Amino acid sequence: MTKLLDRLVVKKTYALSGDLAAFASPLAVVPPREETSGMLLGTDDLGRPVFLNPSSLPNMHGIIVGTTGSGKSTLARHLILEARDLGVSSWVIDPHGERSYARLYSRVLLLGADRINVLDTPGWKSSEFSSELARYIERVYGISGARFVLREILLKCLNRGSLSPLENLSEVPEVKRIYDDLAQIHEDSAPSVEELAASSICFTFPQMSSREFRSLAALLLLMLLQGYRRTLGESHRFEHMVVLEEAHYLAPYLLHLYQQTRKWGYSVIAVTQLPRELDPRLYQLAGFVVALSGPESYVNDISLLFSLTRDERDHILYKPRGAALLVRQGDPRPRKLFLKLRREAFPEA
Ligand SMILES: Nc1ncnc2c1ncn2[C@@H]1O[C@H](COP(=O)(O)OP(=O)(O)OP(=O)(O)O)[C@@H](O)[C@H]1O
Ligand SMILES: [Mg+2]
Repeated sequence: MTKLLDRLVVKKTYALSGDLAAFASPLAVVPPREETSGMLLGTDDLGRPVFLNPSSLPNMHGIIVGTTGSGKSTLARHLILEARDLGVSSWVIDPHGERSYARLYSRVLLLGADRINVLDTPGWKSSEFSSELARYIERVYGISGARFVLREILLKCLNRGSLSPLENLSEVPEVKRIYDDLAQIHEDSAPSVEELAASSICFTFPQMSSREFRSLAALLLLMLLQGYRRTLGESHRFEHMVVLEEAHYLAPYLLHLYQQTRKWGYSVIAVTQLPRELDPRLYQLAGFVVALSGPESYVNDISLLFSLTRDERDHILYKPRGAALLVRQGDPRPRKLFLKLRREAFPEA
């Protein structure tokens, strides 16, 4: 009965659209839009279907957050399958090499054994690419102060289309590590980003590869895609999706990406079990965030990020898998969700 009453009572709520939020004026309000199409996530607390439609959000990028074993990857696989039904291709960058991801894809690249061409960088000026890459390599490898030298060497590599300028300096131990890793990712004759972006691919890694290697490879894939999407021109249509597991390793880059890449027709979904490792600004920039249920300390973190009400907090606190909150940019309150995930998305399927 209360459910019925709730449905009959039309509540008027207003939200700032993400684009206008920066210019918060009392006049800059638009009513929140209820999605009726897109990727089906499940139902809300009134049993109504809840859809996620990245193309109608101010920012297509998103975050899936939950503690270990809370169902993050299962949800990500569900989204991959939902996106596929909408004709949206996807990449997954999966450092764990989960069989459950690989079996959804007909093309699986094992980075370290299979190579890609990272020196063909459409959509980027060489100077811009080398400077950005040097900045993040410095962080990933923890070699502060090396950025400017590295930038120059990487620029030479890009201009020559070869890693030899880096190889020539590989008596310096830090450079050697980076060269060794890049040489395991790159090959001149390997597929370029243009070719890779044309298909759905599961990128995975050998068991023994280092965290730095995995982060570097993931970073390169995302940077290459970022440039490539720019060459296609602005698009507000949801055309490609990337699921990035262990996203906290690329936290500084993601902040930059979520700021810069708003309308390029693709969505990067950052998956992490460590909500605190992502800059709080990333949660504000993201078009959507799905927070899965979990224990108190985790729910406290989520609560702080989104100023959750008691009711919203209770919805995910110590709840069985499947209870979640969906925060959409432009929507004034998180939606309480009960996920209904496709069977093929489960690891046991
Ligand atoms: N919505 C759901 N309802 C019920 N069970 C679920 C749900 N989502 C996931 N599970 C189950 O929970 C287990 C863990 O799921 P999953 O591997 O997706 O978690 P995870 O958060 O990615 O874990 P990890 O942090 O280890 O990567 C699986 O056995 C899966 O079947
Ligand atoms: Mg997982």
